[in-house]
Amino acid sequence: MGLAHGPADGNRAEDGVNAPLLLRDCVPEDSDAVAALWTACGLVVPWNDPFADIALALSKPNATILLGTLDGRIVASAMAGQEGHRGWIYYVAVDPAQQGHGYGRRMVEAAEAWLREAGMPKVQLLVRETNQRVLAFYETLGYARSPATMMQKWLTKPSP
Ligand SMILES: CC(C)(COP(=O)(O)OP(=O)(O)OC[C@H]1O[C@@H](n2cnc3c(N)ncnc32)[C@H](O)[C@@H]1OP(=O)(O)O)[C@@H](O)C(=O)NCCC(=O)NCCS
Repeated sequence: MGLAHGPADGNRAEDGVNAPLLLRDCVPEDSDAVAALWTACGLVVPWNDPFADIALALSKPNATILLGTLDGRIVASAMAGQEGHRGWIYYVAVDPAQQGHGYGRRMVEAAEAWLREAGMPKVQLLVRETNQRVLAFYETLGYARSPATMMQKWLTKPSP
């Protein structure tokens, strides 16, 4: 499910309010820029190597990393994936200098469209305890808090 969306594909560039954010799929050559974006947005934590996360997602047919570019520069991202039951969204990020222009909404909606096309009836995402202020952003986009408790276990030990 490739993606190559121009300005007319759902953004609001044509009304002159926003710059034309172009959407495309991430390729391995984007790794440095994407890792830099995630770092600038505070999404990189010691236990998740962004380069390993990018390589893993790009190696799986049931996952994708969508990128938003302005004049060819990567300024936004969203990773989407599905495991045959639910769709998941990760690494929603907009360059701090470009936030507040609707690009975050565009990236989440593009990830949702990718998951809908993959046949997923529901999308879920995780928000870190330390990032509670982002909850209002997702609520604006129609997301509701889930009463479930997430449990986790590493199956492959992350490198130190
Ligand atoms: C969260 C983030 C992606 C939002 O990107 P953005 O481009 O600034 O968001 P948008 O401009 O598309 O905002 C979409 C809507 O959410 C609202 N919104 C955005 N941030 C908000 C906030 N902190 N509180 C309340 N509402 C917010 C906007 O007002 C807008 O509403 P509207 O469409 O009704 O006008 C961006 O702030 C970011 O990269 N944060 C750091 C990384 C991060 O925390 N990612 C999420 C990990 S779970």
